[in-house]
Amino acid sequence: MKSKYNFQVKYNPAIIIEEGSLLRLPEIINSGAYFPLPRRFILVVDRAFHDANGDLLGKFVKDIKSEALIWPFESGENAKSLPGLMKILDFCSKNSIKRDDAIGVIGGGTLCDMIAFAASVYLRGIHMINIPTTLISCVDPVFGKAAINHGGVKNLIGSYFVPDLTLIDVSFLKKDSRRYYVTGIAEVIKSAFIDSKRSVDELEADMAGLVGMDNGIIDKYVKLGIKVKTSCVLGDELGLRGKHFRLSLGHNLADILEMADLPDRLTHGESVALGMIFAAYVNGRINPGSSHLLSRTKALISAAGLPTRPNSNAIQPDKILDLLRKSKKNYDKGISLVVLNDYGKVDNANNVDPEIVKEGIGYLINE
Ligand SMILES: NC(=O)c1ccc[n+]([C@@H]2O[C@H](COP(=O)([O-])OP(=O)(O)OC[C@H]3O[C@@H](n4cnc5c(N)ncnc54)[C@H](O)[C@@H]3O)[C@@H](O)[C@H]2O)c1
Repeated sequence: MKSKYNFQVKYNPAIIIEEGSLLRLPEIINSGAYFPLPRRFILVVDRAFHDANGDLLGKFVKDIKSEALIWPFESGENAKSLPGLMKILDFCSKNSIKRDDAIGVIGGGTLCDMIAFAASVYLRGIHMINIPTTLISCVDPVFGKAAINHGGVKNLIGSYFVPDLTLIDVSFLKKDSRRYYVTGIAEVIKSAFIDSKRSVDELEADMAGLVGMDNGIIDKYVKLGIKVKTSCVLGDELGLRGKHFRLSLGHNLADILEMADLPDRLTHGESVALGMIFAAYVNGRINPGSSHLLSRTKALISAAGLPTRPNSNAIQPDKILDLLRKSKKNYDKGISLVVLNDYGKVDNANNVDPEIVKEGIGYLINE
């Protein structure tokens, strides 16, 4: 039997990206191709997905050769918490889940992150299948990092964990809310800029189809996101100052905005979009050679229907400055920001002048 330990991350994610693959889930598990057939299989399912897909889940229970336990679960940033984690661990314990058993998750990024963390710590690691169902969690799925929020800080507690299988079937993506769908496009835009000018050019041409929820185009950009994620994580699995940091483009500010107590809370992708504009503005001031990227970043974000300004005037530049200084992504005393010097050229700007940072926040609020 394959064993998993947190301190030995083997970054070799198995992944299926194929329309219709979710219908074959029992067959995939029964085949034992990814891990030996478990005695028990817990499937934690986002409640909204659960309520909309009773037939699919009923068929899963009928066709899988393991004893299956389906558990509808509330998702969201508040659920991705220590109490949420404890519920999962208690459920595993009460159902006598052993190391050769397995857990699966169907849902958005919050549930996938939390279940991956639970799978990494329960009995020091059990088998897991990750089935993301929001665009954002497909473009940037949980291979590598698994986490929960705590004390108002995003992903404060977590581990490094690679699920045995990630299965992406874009025909089951959440498309009932334009706002939640579009939020995923922010990570697509980020991936294209990290990748190359060619990817940005193609994305510009494909944007209408992506916004129009065309499955073929979604599939293309899910693959791009995973390619970019893999290229950044390989060789720097633990995120220790290798290429991993590139994935944080836009996230220095996004982590703060997403947790901010605003009247209309920003989604992860909306926060990343604003964080990318902020980073492009600040870098344009530090490194004028990069200033051409600001207008293109903003244009793509706008074409996606994402906000280019925060929706609230409750954002205080001094408070944000302070939070950026204290950020868990800050390794030095001054403020560090992940920035883009050119297409495909991500860098860390260290000791950024606080006045330029404040100017960047002012630009974001007012322009
Ligand atoms: N681990 C990673 O690599 C990674 C990558 C990106 C984002 N994240 C994390 O993911 C979170 C954001 O994820 P999210 O935007 O998916 O949020 P989410 O998990 O809260 O899901 C958003 C909403 O979609 C609903 N939903 C999910 N799938 C559905 C479906 N198929 N049909 C109908 N409704 C459905 C949920 O009930 C929820 O209301 C953040 O916490 C972020 O840190 C993690």
